Amino acid sequence: MTAIAVIPGDGIGTEVVAQARKVLDVALPGYTATEYDLGARRYHATGEILPESVVTELDGHDAILLGAIGDPSVPPGVLERGLLLKLRFDFDQYVNLRPSRLWPGTVSPLADVKPGEIDLVVVREGTEGLYAGAGGTLHEGSSAEIATEESLNTRYGTERVIRDAFERARRRDRKHVTCVHKTNVLTHAGGLWRRTFADVSADYPDVATDYQHVDAAAMFLVTRPQAYDVIVTDNLFGDILTDIAAAVTGGIGLAASGNVNPDRTHPSMFEPVHGSAPDIAGKGVADPVAAIMSAGLLLEHLGHGEAATAVTRAVAADLAERTPGERLGTDAIGDRVTARVAEILG
Ligand code: IPM
Ligand code: MN
Repeated sequence: MTAIAVIPGDGIGTEVVAQARKVLDVALPGYTATEYDLGARRYHATGEILPESVVTELDGHDAILLGAIGDPSVPPGVLERGLLLKLRFDFDQYVNLRPSRLWPGTVSPLADVKPGEIDLVVVREGTEGLYAGAGGTLHEGSSAEIATEESLNTRYGTERVIRDAFERARRRDRKHVTCVHKTNVLTHAGGLWRRTFADVSADYPDVATDYQHVDAAAMFLVTRPQAYDVIVTDNLFGDILTDIAAAVTGGIGLAASGNVNPDRTHPSMFEPVHGSAPDIAGKGVADPVAAIMSAGLLLEHLGHGEAATAVTRAVAADLAERTPGERLGTDAIGDRVTARVAEILG
């Protein structure tokens, strides 16, 4: 039986995860869900962020479904580093998979992009780069304060994520990978990324490639996002570019992600790209589509291709039916998509 660990987390995380679970209930019959109370509430109540015993328990599951982590009542970085990033690192989730598609019914802020024209996936490195936590502060609070933040990049880490990007590109129609970095300034890390990209590409003669600096990629994601197929990039560049990719494809409320461990040495974790959105938390207005699509990625990862396709089709149909400006509640969208999934799976 498939065992899913569920971490609803903070803010709208609990609301959207509840909808994703409704969908899983019909798409993955017989799975078990174990809920873990982690995030701001637990931190304030007990001081605990992520006890090692919980990490061990989570490790025993087939996959993790997460809502959102972070709350204004907790100093920035405490929960993000101690919980979310710790899980990504501990479970070696080195592929942060972030697909973006412009579905019919959704509105892009870009004038000449039509639904169906954007279909890209960012393969964001998930365990290295500036997120590794290397660096430090000297003379904190004084006028002589010095802060450093170092980016950690290894041949091992770059090669495995780049290889994953090529494998994904090979399974897609356009078979194209764009490597994004900043080699004109970050010569050490950039040099490693470009050399590794060139070496790996030799093993994939059927996949076309190009390279862009991250500033140019940020611009092209806005001026011609249709041109992208697969983008592979480091942790921080990927973080920023995927918010742009989400923005041009109907907004962050629709953007799904998977923190994938392709070697399956630990569970992978699926979560919406959006955060806990404290400003709208508890109002029942958050769009659960990102969480539902993340559950779809979870199904795909666990080998339930048919169920995953049903989720994608159900969401696409639901989006196509929305009238611009219509305000649908979190629950209503969850119920509608769930009913459609049930209908598709018959
Ligand atoms: C994301 C988020 C996280 C990140 C934060 C909350 C640590 O922005 O998943 O994109 O930077 O990876
Ligand atoms: Mn982000």
